[in-house]
Amino acid sequence: MTRDVQDNTALLAQLMKDSVDASADWRPKARWHGYAMRIANEIERAGLENFRTNFRLLKGFTTGGNPLPDEPRNPLKKAIWRAVAGLPVVARILSEERHLVAAEHQGRMASEIGRAQLVLSELERSGLTFQPPEGLANGGAEDAFEWNGHLLTPVWVEHLMRAVELYQKIPTESVDTIFEVGSGLAQTTLAHVALNPKLKWIVNVDIPPVLYIASQYLRSIPGVEVVDYTSTRDLDRIVPAAAQDGRTRIYMLPPWQTSRLDAEADLFLNAASFQEMDRESCAAYAMEANRITKKWAVLICGGRTENETPDPNVVGANFVLDLFGDKFDDQETCSGSWQKWYRHESYLSHYFARNAA
Ligand SMILES: C[S@@+](CC[C@H](N)C(=O)[O-])C[C@H]1O[C@@H](n2cnc3c(N)ncnc32)[C@H](O)[C@@H]1O
Repeated sequence: MTRDVQDNTALLAQLMKDSVDASADWRPKARWHGYAMRIANEIERAGLENFRTNFRLLKGFTTGGNPLPDEPRNPLKKAIWRAVAGLPVVARILSEERHLVAAEHQGRMASEIGRAQLVLSELERSGLTFQPPEGLANGGAEDAFEWNGHLLTPVWVEHLMRAVELYQKIPTESVDTIFEVGSGLAQTTLAHVALNPKLKWIVNVDIPPVLYIASQYLRSIPGVEVVDYTSTRDLDRIVPAAAQDGRTRIYMLPPWQTSRLDAEADLFLNAASFQEMDRESCAAYAMEANRITKKWAVLICGGRTENETPDPNVVGANFVLDLFGDKFDDQETCSGSWQKWYRHESYLSHYFARNAA
């Protein structure tokens, strides 16, 4: 059984309103400037009902929904596009194309489920134990499948695999608190909760429309406690603390609240996000990560260097790694089972440690 994810228009409106006053370091740039507008418009149009099948809402930070072309943003171009698409001959061709894309989408989902089942059977064979939170497929995930009485999704199993590898390097019992930037749909959060149920708190930072979707999705999951912007907005200092009832408490913060965090986190995480940001934002986050992180920082970075980025406004892997290398004591780079299973050989996991860890 999956639960609906509730809309909270007041929370979204507050986040979007306050984001206008955020300083440049804390605003989405490069491709995420346009993505944020597209996602915000789509939430306004469609809401969160069955959002896991809304490709226009999810594209860029998670999977789900039948792939659709991006409509032009310019109102005149959009009107022309719609008029042309409505012509009988064009409409027939587009409808045929949509059928093909839908069939391909069904095939891709089936193969992702097959891969997830394979990964789970390997993990089971290795003797690993974990407790998947109830509600992972909430929001109408169309690729949900049953495994040992739990409803799982392929995207969560992929994040589980990443977290399994992390805990092969870092002792689970030494991680009580996590700070993640660019947390997307919080699948990493839910993977860590499954593997490390004694986690006290996790702080996630993401840009407003994505943060809103993830906050509402997490609220539909009974095994975690969520503290969202409604509670943190007026705080000058945000001091994370454990929940009263033993669940992991998840703080969902927009970028401009990062500097208000008064906390020490055992582990800092970033996966495939810094390299979609500009230099100033990345440097600002690295400074905050250095201030807040007590033991480890783990970054998953693509292989592109500063000279190879397709967009000159986004950073390369070497820029990110230098920022962290300057502040932490040890560094190790790995390519493990996650990369192998998911054919992400171009992504490397970088482990940074403080000597005291
Ligand atoms: C490719 S997705 C990765 C999501 C997640 N880490 C994962 O591995 O599934 C990039 C993420 O970075 C976030 N992001 C982009 N610009 C950001 C910014 N300036 N501050 C915080 N998050 C940002 C996006 O909203 C998105 O969630």
